[in-house]
Amino acid sequence: MSRRVLPPWPYPRLVAHRGAGKLAPENTMAAFRLGASFGYRAFEFDVKLSSDGRSFLLHDATLERTTSGQGRADALTLGELAMLDAGSWHGPAFAGEGLPTLTGVLRYMQANRFAVNIEIKPTPGREYQTGAAVAIDARHLCADMQPLPLLSSFSEVALEAARQTEPTLPRAHLFDRLPSDWLARLERLDCVALDVNHRELTPEVIAQAHDAGFRVLCYTANDPERVQLLLRWGVDSVITDAVDLLDPDTSLSR
Ligand code: G3P
Ligand code: MG
Repeated sequence: MSRRVLPPWPYPRLVAHRGAGKLAPENTMAAFRLGASFGYRAFEFDVKLSSDGRSFLLHDATLERTTSGQGRADALTLGELAMLDAGSWHGPAFAGEGLPTLTGVLRYMQANRFAVNIEIKPTPGREYQTGAAVAIDARHLCADMQPLPLLSSFSEVALEAARQTEPTLPRAHLFDRLPSDWLARLERLDCVALDVNHRELTPEVIAQAHDAGFRVLCYTANDPERVQLLLRWGVDSVITDAVDLLDPDTSLSR
């Protein structure tokens, strides 16, 4: 395959996973503020749609694990979701923490000049609608944001919807396991980056991606030695939970 020019990569080397990893309730404002207090300037978070089609932050398809609600996350309106407690499950210090909207989070990120990686995490059956809605929100809310939000997803339907809706927003294809045709999949969806479980990476895979013109992002590497090895291999950014262990300015142990 012919060598292509790598796209610009304006994102920091270390990206805080779900806000502050496991130190605060994931995907909440408390988590972003805690991650920022550790010096992080780039955040990954998960977005899906309410029953009335509004973008909000939540990892799971259901509410039980991280909120006071029950059942499918897309069965409630944004107004109903706003009544839930998304902090108590983590600990009493976070009682009453709410589920953020994508709008609110992007306002905070923009005001603080933080970079974002929005993971489009649709509830089953709502892949296209979620990819399109998140792309529209990200484009409209981040018109002046530099760098542009990086959209990522495991769902090719969601990525395709984002590509069709807001083609100028950069996209990364998420994989837990690398399929044999991963390069063709990145090309078909016109992605800028491979975003893969760090356990799948080797120097050869990274070189193959770079030679084909794709950046490489990986998740969720938490051991400082492993993170440094991945960066030596040439990974462009690492998504980590270990915001307390890794200094985002040096990528070294604190
Ligand atoms: O976006 C990278 C990573 O967050 C993907 O896995 O399950 O933590 O959303 P998950
Ligand atoms: Mg995620």
